[in-house]
Amino acid sequence: MSKKVLTPTAVLITGASIGIGEALAREYAGPSRFLALSGRHQERLKDVANACRGFGADVEAKVVDVADRDAMARWIKAVDAKHPLDLVIANAGISSGSGGRGESETQARDIFAVNLAGVLNTIWPAITPMRERGTGQIAIVSSVAAFRGLPGAPAYAASKAAVKNYGEGLRGWLAADGIGVSVICPGFVHTRMTEKNIYPMPFLMDANKAARIIRKGVERNKPRIAFPWPTYILAWLAGALPPGWTDAVYNRLPKKD
Ligand SMILES: NC(=O)c1ccc[n+]([C@@H]2O[C@H](COP(=O)([O-])OP(=O)(O)OC[C@H]3O[C@@H](n4cnc5c(N)ncnc54)[C@H](OP(=O)(O)O)[C@@H]3O)[C@@H](O)[C@H]2O)c1
Repeated sequence: MSKKVLTPTAVLITGASIGIGEALAREYAGPSRFLALSGRHQERLKDVANACRGFGADVEAKVVDVADRDAMARWIKAVDAKHPLDLVIANAGISSGSGGRGESETQARDIFAVNLAGVLNTIWPAITPMRERGTGQIAIVSSVAAFRGLPGAPAYAASKAAVKNYGEGLRGWLAADGIGVSVICPGFVHTRMTEKNIYPMPFLMDANKAARIIRKGVERNKPRIAFPWPTYILAWLAGALPPGWTDAVYNRLPKKD
């Protein structure tokens, strides 16, 4: 029996100004669809919004920092009041961008503020009205980096592990309220975040292809949308093994940019 396909009318996407978020905005853009898009870079966000309008979508673009809890709550509540949201994609995220030197303490704190607190600031203002309506969907962008602590990117991997586990827990908790939750774990995707990487990135994927995979998975309310499968299997296996068995390998890997 085929699973029910969820087709959202009003979608909110953070980090939509470039990369996977931009590809998702274009993927969801179409007639009879409202898109609320956010990012920090006004010009890039405006270009993405205009491109989505060109595909027939009704678009509101907002420059807002996901780490700013009050601003996010104000924006999302106002959007939801006009266009009741049925899908919220918490996509905005950062890595250290350290030029191969790893994460400083400041970078580690910034990463947690955006990748962890930023996800909470995105989903909670939507969960409350979704619960009242008894329907809605949340998608959280984690990473295959979530499956094991990474010496080259400790805060990044930890922030992704936190939102992965949080999303998995929320899924069971919110099911009774009619809200679906999917956790997205991409491998390497060609974006601004990865283009600085100085090491080989196996199975590097185009952002548009990633967006198509994500949309398909979200439409089926899949609990975990992890891809490409070879990267996922390797990451999962590495996480399942005792850390002492894999430390020697992981400690030699280059530091993430
Ligand atoms: N690329 C990969 O290989 C990969 C793999 C696994 C998971 N991911 C995850 O996928 C998500 C998107 O990454 P990407 O590769 O598309 O990176 P990207 O090209 O650097 O895009 C990141 C997006 O997040 C936004 N953003 C960053 N900090 C923000 C903040 N404080 N407030 C609001 N928006 C903010 C950026 O907006 P502005 O530039 O306008 O600030 C941009 O739109 C991230 O969560 C990342 O961790 C990526």
